[in-house]
Amino acid sequence: MKVPFIDLGRQHKAIKQELTKTFEKILDSNQFILGDIVKGFETEVASYIDVKYAIGVSNCTNALLLSLRALGVDAGDEVITTPFTFIATAEVIAVLGATPVFCDIDPRTFNIDPNKISACLSARTKAILPVHLYGQAADMDTITQIARVHNLKVVEDMAQAIGATYKEKKVGTFGDTACISFFPTKNLSALGDAGMILTNDEDLDKKIRAFRVHGASKKYYHDFLGYNDRLDALQAAFLSVKLKYLDEWHERRRYIAHKYDQGLRNVVTVPYIDSCNGSIYHQYTIRTPQRDELRTYLGDCGIGTAIHYPMPLHMQPALHFLGCKEGAFPEAEKAAREVLCLPIHQNLTEEEVDYTVSKIRKFFHKGGRDAVEENFS
Ligand SMILES: Cc1ncc(COP(=O)(O)O)c(C=O)c1O
Repeated sequence: MKVPFIDLGRQHKAIKQELTKTFEKILDSNQFILGDIVKGFETEVASYIDVKYAIGVSNCTNALLLSLRALGVDAGDEVITTPFTFIATAEVIAVLGATPVFCDIDPRTFNIDPNKISACLSARTKAILPVHLYGQAADMDTITQIARVHNLKVVEDMAQAIGATYKEKKVGTFGDTACISFFPTKNLSALGDAGMILTNDEDLDKKIRAFRVHGASKKYYHDFLGYNDRLDALQAAFLSVKLKYLDEWHERRRYIAHKYDQGLRNVVTVPYIDSCNGSIYHQYTIRTPQRDELRTYLGDCGIGTAIHYPMPLHMQPALHFLGCKEGAFPEAEKAAREVLCLPIHQNLTEEEVDYTVSKIRKFFHKGGRDAVEENFS
């Protein structure tokens, strides 16, 4: 049996007719960038998350960049973030001339450790940029409380977490802004690059809308220098089709995660989801000191896996100029050595999940199928 880590083909086959019709509609409309279709999708996402404003942009990296710039992050400022994330999170801080200040992670959730944030504060701290990694919310009560006390801005990197909840509220409602990725592998995915910024602040909404069209509040009248960072109508229309299914797809991911939990909890460390969190399981990430051997074995069994992420950001050559040494963030470094993401998506079959579980159990000499079935009962 082959279990691909991700299978967009299956997702798109199930809704191919709708996507094809949508393509024809946009083709006939001759409206390819921004316009009513993008506006409509922005309204749908704002309502889904429960925020006032949603601004469609070309990807989440630029959503983060525009957010930080709109919030006034500039050369000389510091922004506290996690070293255990995709490079984009810290990259945008550095691109603005500001300094990413890393704060180690909580080894259970892989998110920024709320108890370590205060030690990262300085007179130059301007903002906190938490990531809701793998689809699970960071500790937003503590983060927003620290931000309030120290007069800091908060930008949520929810690239991986559309629909995830923290204390019953959706992520994206806690920060000054929040940034979504619709990269093709995300739970809600475009057929290309796409992103979005959320905010409840009218002034930020206006500013960011201007940033995405070269700083223009009116065509050919430029109040400041901005970017070309617009969302395509085609992507917005595809995303709008998929948004209707998103909650159903999340449910299926939760069901699969539950099955993995049942089958694997006595052989590896399964994901820890804080009781106040509703995860959307963008990734189902186990950890084991035998990660590399297990990955090779699963590959030989036809099971695709991924490592998000093999090298924490403070050890990336691109960020060596920050002067952080190996050992500076031990939890992030240990996680990078031990995490393994298993296949999880709404189109994964029961047989594929059972097969994956049985192979992992077999690797740890815990028995195959029979043991798994015993465990589920
Ligand atoms: C945590 C995180 N932040 C930012 C990004 C950047 O998103 P995009 O590829 O849409 O620019 C990603 C993409 O994977 C991500 O995982």
